[in-house]
Amino acid sequence: MLFSSFASALLCGVSAVLAQRATLTQVTDFGSNPADIRMYLYVPDAVAASPGVVVSLHGASGNAQQQFKSTPYAKLAEQYGFVAIYPESPQGAWDATSAESRTHEGGGASQSIANMVKYVLDTYNAEASKVFVSGISSGGTMTNTLAAAYPDIFKGAVIYSAGSSDNIRDMYPGYTGSYPEIQLYLGSEDTVIGSDAFNSTLAAWAAVLGYDDTPDRVLGDTPRSGWTKYVLGSKLEGIWAQGVGHPVFTQGAEDMKWWGFAR
Ligand SMILES: *[C@@H]1O[C@H](CO)[C@@H](O)[C@H](O)[C@H]1NC(C)=O
Repeated sequence: MLFSSFASALLCGVSAVLAQRATLTQVTDFGSNPADIRMYLYVPDAVAASPGVVVSLHGASGNAQQQFKSTPYAKLAEQYGFVAIYPESPQGAWDATSAESRTHEGGGASQSIANMVKYVLDTYNAEASKVFVSGISSGGTMTNTLAAAYPDIFKGAVIYSAGSSDNIRDMYPGYTGSYPEIQLYLGSEDTVIGSDAFNSTLAAWAAVLGYDDTPDRVLGDTPRSGWTKYVLGSKLEGIWAQGVGHPVFTQGAEDMKWWGFAR
């Protein structure tokens, strides 16, 4: 009697929690955090039994809350059941270019973010083959760094309005596994990054993925009218956003296709 009323009170408590809509929540104890990066997490109400993981990185003037609100990933998480991580740099801009960040387990901000992913893989029984990252501007540079320094963790990356042409293999010397699938978006009117970054970034990834610099296919009006998609190989695409400045906004539906959540 006593037990059953206790049990039903407990059940009421559980359903009250479940009825509440998912919100962005800070996680403070995700593991080693050498660069003091803040971790915010969105676990959708409809989280999958073995969910994918999407890391979404804000730009230099942004923060986790702003990235959460201005990108479609929370809504897409509800649709596809993945968990979304919104890391936050206390400095605003990401330290994506220091030796620490550009080295696998080098003690920089990239390592803090990699540890957030490991925490989510453990805590939510997430699927290691479905870990992805995207970011805007400074967050795009960090996306590039994460894809290069942690190719063992990230399976796909979408870089919005950033570029980097450093030697990718230098960030994880001795690594012999596969590298993530890379998409790069850049606006034709982007004076912050400059148009040269488009092909130099694609060339840097082509070298690692085993492709030559010349595109296999050039698709006009793809994925949007006036934009051009350059396909360098099955794992590397550049999207030139004609008439767009800085930054190109997150193309959620395209990301879902690139990462295999949608067809
Ligand atoms: C990138 O290279 C392609 C040829 O591979 C060229 O057609 C295109 O104009 C280049 N884009 C930029 C922005 O330089």
